[in-house]
Amino acid sequence: MKKFYITTPLYYVNAKPHIGHAYTNILCDAYARYRRLRHGDDSVFFLTGTDEHGTKIEKAAKENGKGPKAYADEMVPVFKELWEILGISYDYFIRTTDDAHKTIVGNILRDLELKQDIYPAKYEGWYCTPCESFWTELQLLEGKCPDCHREVQKLSEENYFFKLSKYHDWLVKYIQDNPKFIQPEIRRNEILGFLREPLEDLCITRPRSRLNWGIDYPNSKDHVVYVWFDALVNYISAVGYTVDSERFNTYWPADVHMVGKDILRHHAVYWPIMLKACGLQMPKAIIAHGWWTMGGQKVSKSRGNAVDPFELVKKYGADAFRYYLLHEVTVGYDGTFSEDLLRERYITDLSNDLGNLWFRLATMLEKYFGGQLPKVESSEDSPALRSDKLWMQGMWESFTKAVEINNRSEIYEEVTQFDPRLALDAIWDLIKKANKKIEEKKPWILAKDPAKKTELAETLIIIAEWIAHIACLLQPFLPETAKKILKRLNLPEKVDIAENEIAFGKGLLSPGLKVERGEALFPKLEEDPHLIPPPQSGGG
Ligand code: MSP
Repeated sequence: MKKFYITTPLYYVNAKPHIGHAYTNILCDAYARYRRLRHGDDSVFFLTGTDEHGTKIEKAAKENGKGPKAYADEMVPVFKELWEILGISYDYFIRTTDDAHKTIVGNILRDLELKQDIYPAKYEGWYCTPCESFWTELQLLEGKCPDCHREVQKLSEENYFFKLSKYHDWLVKYIQDNPKFIQPEIRRNEILGFLREPLEDLCITRPRSRLNWGIDYPNSKDHVVYVWFDALVNYISAVGYTVDSERFNTYWPADVHMVGKDILRHHAVYWPIMLKACGLQMPKAIIAHGWWTMGGQKVSKSRGNAVDPFELVKKYGADAFRYYLLHEVTVGYDGTFSEDLLRERYITDLSNDLGNLWFRLATMLEKYFGGQLPKVESSEDSPALRSDKLWMQGMWESFTKAVEINNRSEIYEEVTQFDPRLALDAIWDLIKKANKKIEEKKPWILAKDPAKKTELAETLIIIAEWIAHIACLLQPFLPETAKKILKRLNLPEKVDIAENEIAFGKGLLSPGLKVERGEALFPKLEEDPHLIPPPQSGGG
């Protein structure tokens, strides 16, 4: 069976991961988890990893008094630890220093040389070390790097070039013919705009005299491979290109390459041409998400405003952090990070709405039914039940809406329609309605009248059913919380939404089941939180 193959960028190991990196992986994780719920654990291949070659890493290693490989070996566990605490359910972690990857990069280069898509030539240009990019005189902005506005150096050297220009027209046509290839639309237009200018061939080597830390270039002892060429190959080397054709065919083409908007050009221009030159199929979609900013600037290590995800998870828990990132921006747009807002969401949406809903149900079951879900002989004629049925119908509609937004097959098959923000809004609509139902029904009043025992039981059963359904829907987004609720309701660790939707009329819960109240899902926060201060105006 063809797997749903989703990838994150490979993160540079020159610094600890920050909130921007966490965002990409959380986004991909929500897609992957959702997909597994619908099509089984085995249906997804979720790839992440680290980008370990190039000047940036060599420099960071030197500053830390280490060799580059030893330095990368120390950094990789930091990334893995973050993915672990954030519940990132990746299937494979690739490092660009893996032997298999290096071999495959070499295989591809030899193949492209044979096809005469690579040639040696003298290169003169302006080089920006932090961006690892060459620029022509014309491209410079006031003599500085047009991307990062830092100083550039003039370099002249013998290198190997990949014939991007040869595939220029093909790429433009491909993007035009495949409107979903680059998303969102605004980014697709940006790439088409960029392609209106002639495409220069890509310099894919660096002389060893300048950079020693890279994959050996197959036909020259004096060159290493340019880090971006090396890194992009990971998407096919991870699935065995040139070494395991059966495996490769199970996975390739990828369904989604999730990237930040700053690295879209590499993914939407260089990468498709590399694939085309190799005679391979294109990935189905390249989705560019926006940036997390603070004080109007991209959050990044080099701007000194990196927000530490470890610290935030320690304070608020992984699910609250995931909720905030997934709910606060629409995929593709920028978002302003504010710990204040994260805190506010924790208190209102998570602790008050969701946490309290569970707490009220579990407490009432304890108090009125000895901690068990009551059994009732339901009678169609009971007016209470009739009105509940109407209410259920309303809930059912909202529920379907929530399912449709994040799950329903036809819409969902358009992978990129998956919108965690809308899905979470729809789920919260259900949570709020369930709370409102408790307010209206006032089970604590019903409990005072022995004649209303059945109505009380029916009310709590309905609320419990809704919470069970809400927990199912929450699984891709807040996996830890969903798991806790499902466990407390004695349901399996994972419940497939699609299957149970059919069983909805009968309910998910068995009468008489023992419900465990457990600890607060979102405990009270400390009073003095030492919030990450917003940066000074104009600062970064
Ligand atoms: N190593 C390259 C990617 C190679 S992929 C074959 C790279 N690494 S990175 O560590 O600098 O960035 C990785 C990803 O993190 C990029 O998609 C980038 O957009 C994302 N983010 C870095 N800072 C970000 C924010 N402030 N906000 C959101 N994401 C941003 O580029």
